[in-house]
Amino acid sequence: MTFYVTTPIYYANSLPHLGHLYTMIVADTIARSKRQKGIETYFLTGTDEHGINIERAAEKSGRTPKEQADYVVSYYKKMTAEFGLDTAHGGYDIFMRTTEPFHYQGASELWRRCAKAKTPKGNDAIYKGHYEGWFCAACAEYKTEDEYQKPKTEGAPPTCLIHDIALDRVSEDGYFFRLSDYDEALLSVYESQPDFVRPESRRNEVISFVKGGLQDLSISRLKTSVSWGVPVPDDPEHTMYVWFEALINYITAIGFGNEEREKIVGFEKFWPALHLVGKDILRFHAVYWPAFLLAAGIELPRAIVAHGMWLDPNGRKMSKTLGNTIELDVLQQHFNVDAIRYFVLREMVFGQDGRFGYEGLIDRANSDLASGLGNLSSRTLTMIARYSEGRIPARQIAEDKLLFAKRTGVDTDETTVAGFIELARDQYLQQFEALNFSRALEVAWSIVARIDKIITDAKPWDLAKDENQKQTLDAILYRSAEAIRWLSVMLFPIMPQACTAIWNQLGLKATPGTHDPAKLIWGELEEGTTIGEVKPIFPRIDKNKVMSEITSGTETQQKPHATAADAVDNAQPKTETPTPTPVHHATEADAVGVTSFIEIGDFAKVDLRVGQVLSAERVPKADKLLLLKIDIGEAEPRQVLAGIAQYYEPEKLINRKVVIVANLKPRKLRGFESQGMVVAASYGEEGRPVIATFTEDVPNGARLK
Ligand code: MSP
Repeated sequence: MTFYVTTPIYYANSLPHLGHLYTMIVADTIARSKRQKGIETYFLTGTDEHGINIERAAEKSGRTPKEQADYVVSYYKKMTAEFGLDTAHGGYDIFMRTTEPFHYQGASELWRRCAKAKTPKGNDAIYKGHYEGWFCAACAEYKTEDEYQKPKTEGAPPTCLIHDIALDRVSEDGYFFRLSDYDEALLSVYESQPDFVRPESRRNEVISFVKGGLQDLSISRLKTSVSWGVPVPDDPEHTMYVWFEALINYITAIGFGNEEREKIVGFEKFWPALHLVGKDILRFHAVYWPAFLLAAGIELPRAIVAHGMWLDPNGRKMSKTLGNTIELDVLQQHFNVDAIRYFVLREMVFGQDGRFGYEGLIDRANSDLASGLGNLSSRTLTMIARYSEGRIPARQIAEDKLLFAKRTGVDTDETTVAGFIELARDQYLQQFEALNFSRALEVAWSIVARIDKIITDAKPWDLAKDENQKQTLDAILYRSAEAIRWLSVMLFPIMPQACTAIWNQLGLKATPGTHDPAKLIWGELEEGTTIGEVKPIFPRIDKNKVMSEITSGTETQQKPHATAADAVDNAQPKTETPTPTPVHHATEADAVGVTSFIEIGDFAKVDLRVGQVLSAERVPKADKLLLLKIDIGEAEPRQVLAGIAQYYEPEKLINRKVVIVANLKPRKLRGFESQGMVVAASYGEEGRPVIATFTEDVPNGARLK
């Protein structure tokens, strides 16, 4: 059995950012999960190096197009190594470059096959004609009237709705692909393989696009207008349209049209692929690409899966002008790679748009990783070191000690916890297979919560004081260690380094990367195994410190950034231009800014209470903070700190009804403990707070639900 997964190949005109990294992380995660199951897997990523946009970027930075591509590729290689995504770290198998000679060969072969082919309606698949229309260099796409902004001044060119740059007028003879003849054939593919385009919402978009009628596609340019491309076979005055040629990379990389490559990798062996793409380039992959393959008589891809876009925390598309892009250098410098992987997979509901902010990343890393998985693992291992001489303890409680165990409330039957974890594992894998990473991770964290609770309830530190409870203590620690073993196998594809570290700290050899999570059996962690050295896996991130480093870093780095890297970036309108709204394929959910949904149970976890302010005073030396005493119907009023001093006079708050998050973990601010949080709206650039209140009478302590 084999498996082949691809990311898009990235334009070699500009340096990568979070959006590019994301697809690589998803592909890498999928590839590792397949390898874990022993499936021979091939993972492709790479660069799309031809076309007018790269030619122009090169010209601007005084390089040849090949030098330009080499420069961008060297950055990609450095970046993928730093993020553990390259071959040396068990990541991609090929960094594909469309300037490779074998790609030229394979692309020519595919063209030839299409040129010989008849469409399903009996016409020549490729024909010569005249193209007259508008072209966006940044999209590398011809634009129809509803896809561009008409010029405000007469005679000026229209502009691209996505990039806001002037379109090129194209009027030349060239080759066309008779896409219009493929509508029925494509619709029958979508019909017969409902999983061909995923998720469902995107599939529906594709179907309605095809049903709306397909136009023939111009697939070449005159060499005199675009010279940087693969020559059309037997007609060197023309170069192939960059999208036509770039899509073919997915098969040339593994050997199509080149015997040597076929021997090294194997088209027969690995095709068809699972293509991961952003929703903005879905049409090329789900409509054009299958049509080319149908013409050439080649099997269609396994599936095309489209993910959403990363937006900033306020829901705006990332752009350099707005200054809201996530730079990979900054990410790499301040965060653990696995924390980044976890965050992007947990945060983005696959298929929908997601929001990325450093603060959100820090909060999640601290709560889910440092306080969650990391803490569970280190407290378990530390206790094993302390109470069990650093060896995995025995799991069974002997008959004569059962009563003692029962007295402490510990479930003496380990099958309860084993059953829970098995079920969670199955659900996790089901969600993972469906690429619902966010949901899968939620399920995995239910295991963390369960084991945490078992430990907290059993209080091993008390058990350790009583000789009669030695076996109870051992059993609890065994369950916890075994759960951690399971988690490190399950989560390995998502956090390979951290899971390997946990695995090794458990005293296990090699890596969890060769263990199939579906085959985990409870109790296979061997008693007596000597654990490894216990080290923190996810150190807590000091939010204020890191945020101020990032903020000052980005300010001072603006100049250094504007050196070599910018030579490339300036040449690319794609990320430089403030983009209005994402117009392409915008769904209703995008329009209202809904990016992820929670279950009602998630909401129920937040204990919101009506409170009344009894007193309010300023906090010395903290000009933003007010110290409030709030009655929420409990015996004692709560002391809550609120960052609203610049907007509210303390005395005016007295008696005011407010909403309090009552189950927020207490924390200390400026030496005062804050036992909850006042809920407020936040608006405007500086995030002006407006306290939530009630217009009707409501008793203190009433719950909001
Ligand atoms: N070269 C083409 C792909 C050819 S594949 C045969 C291309 N390159 S690209 O560099 O512009 O984009 C590559 C991928 O990055 C696309 O899938 C795109 O969706 C993704 N992203 C770019 N910005 C993004 C976000 N802000 N968020 C998520 N993905 C984003 O298109």
